[in-house]
Amino acid sequence: MKNIAVFASGSGSNFQAIINEIERGELSAHIALLVCDKSEAKAIERAKSHEIDTFVFNPNAYVSKEEFEQEIVDELQTRNIEFIVLAGYMRLIGTTLLRSFEGKIVNIHPSLLPSFPGKDAIGQALLAGVKVTGVTIHYVDEGMDTGQIIAQEAVSVDEDETRETLTTKIQQVEHRLYYKTLKDLLSK
Ligand code: GAR
Repeated sequence: MKNIAVFASGSGSNFQAIINEIERGELSAHIALLVCDKSEAKAIERAKSHEIDTFVFNPNAYVSKEEFEQEIVDELQTRNIEFIVLAGYMRLIGTTLLRSFEGKIVNIHPSLLPSFPGKDAIGQALLAGVKVTGVTIHYVDEGMDTGQIIAQEAVSVDEDETRETLTTKIQQVEHRLYYKTLKDLLSK
């Protein structure tokens, strides 16, 4: 069973979905650490209630990305982490982490990439008036949501769709697609 780390910045509903699937015996992995860049994120409470270690840091307290990423790498290596799962971590991964975990970092994004990269992909899709959007899971490289695509699933945008209804539909897909994809990746 592989030791993994989950990185999150917010609510952590994807983090929770992964925890649930591990606890149900559907996904074989050990979440050895939650890395979080926001001290008020709900993801931290979720980690605590499942007795998962946390590394919470304030990016503004460091002189550079390299400096805080080196601390993260140290934390990951101490725990023998083999794989990094980004779950709503709203920060570009820098070369320090990429070099130490080459080909071992994946991200989930709420659109069919390469459409609507970056922030508020759901809002971008609604504004563009597309009839189909979706979810992408991809390897992480130095770009903004540009790494090699691993899995995608489409979600229809209906006539009366609101931000709330579309977010719910996308999250339902995310919570299923992420653990299924991780199951494949972690068994390799
Ligand atoms: C998810 O929808 C995820 O796809 C998105 O943030 C949300 C986090 O929700 N990620 C990105 O937009 C990355 N560019 P969660 O904290 O409830 O898992």
